[in-house]
Amino acid sequence: MTKLRSVVRGCGSFLPETVLTNDDLAAKVDTSDAWIVERTGIRERRVAAEGELTSTLGIRAAEKALAHAGMRADEIELIVLATSTPDNTFPSTATAIQAALGITHGAAFDLQAVCSGFVFALATADNFLKAGQYKTALVIGAETFSRILDWEDRTTCVLFGDGAGAVVLEAREQPGEADDQGILSTHIHSDGRFYDKLYVDGGPSSTGTVGCVRMSGREVFRHAVVNIAQCIEEALEASGMKASDIDWFVPHQANKRILDGTARKIGLDPDRIVMTLDRHGNTSAASIPLALDEAVRDGRIQRGDLVLIEAMGGGFTWGSSLLRW
Ligand code: ACO
Repeated sequence: MTKLRSVVRGCGSFLPETVLTNDDLAAKVDTSDAWIVERTGIRERRVAAEGELTSTLGIRAAEKALAHAGMRADEIELIVLATSTPDNTFPSTATAIQAALGITHGAAFDLQAVCSGFVFALATADNFLKAGQYKTALVIGAETFSRILDWEDRTTCVLFGDGAGAVVLEAREQPGEADDQGILSTHIHSDGRFYDKLYVDGGPSSTGTVGCVRMSGREVFRHAVVNIAQCIEEALEASGMKASDIDWFVPHQANKRILDGTARKIGLDPDRIVMTLDRHGNTSAASIPLALDEAVRDGRIQRGDLVLIEAMGGGFTWGSSLLRW
């Protein structure tokens, strides 16, 4: 029996120009390049310029994804933007992107699941497409985390960076088999008991301020390896696949030690991990589409490849998706 699947037609990404190296940070807070590289794998990250907003980055990534897909903006019916750093409290930054792209039909909204945002956004768009409600979607992850960092807190300011990535999805009938093209599975989870392990200490309803990122790094680390492994196993089981079937593992880029630990636990070949965090840092919801785009553009990910994405973030939230490129 045929199945409606969300097929990735194209991808794109955008990084701000300004590079902030570990040495630049060591000049501001008590840290060192050696500590950051050893504990996280991060060497540098990008920081948005004044006036460069989350929407600015998202628009650039979306334009590139549309060009890659060979589609016009007005062919897009749904825009889901994953971000924790919207331009304004409201309206959604997705509507600013929609307007900049000249789209006046369909729907555009933001989705907030912090670092898991792109997986949650992809799952959301996939469900609209599979249900036949929309035929096309633009799924974007865009962040300016530099705006919510406490630049005097060395335990958090060294970890994050700014950027954006996007994919264009199109609903297409597929034979309904394991080698179908498109999104084969999505699994998303939350457990609000860990709300205060990774959070921002401000907001419109609590303090009336924007606030800064606060994190219990060790707690996050401990849960990350367990939760990520669990949702990868879930994805493989749901699709009847094995770790050895995966061509490319494109994880959320938080910490190299988390990724290496996950790969060992699941039995994934380390050479099959797409890693960008050395140059991007943790760009939260933008990290997966940024990494996907890099691996597609440099020819690693080819049509027909089986790609696994996963993420874990504040909430806690976590999730995975298996897709055939
Ligand atoms: N430079 C130098 N020293 C530092 C720094 C720094 N930037 N940050 C912390 N330290 C110090 C600490 O103060 C501590 O010193 P002390 O022993 O004198 O008290 C020491 O280094 C060890 O600190 P820990 O927090 O135990 O270091 P750990 O090895 O756990 O590494 C890290 C910290 C990198 C944050 C790690 O816990 C981690 O990666 N956690 C996951 C968090 C994460 O990735 N969050 C992103 C969002 S969630 C997600 O995307 C999965």
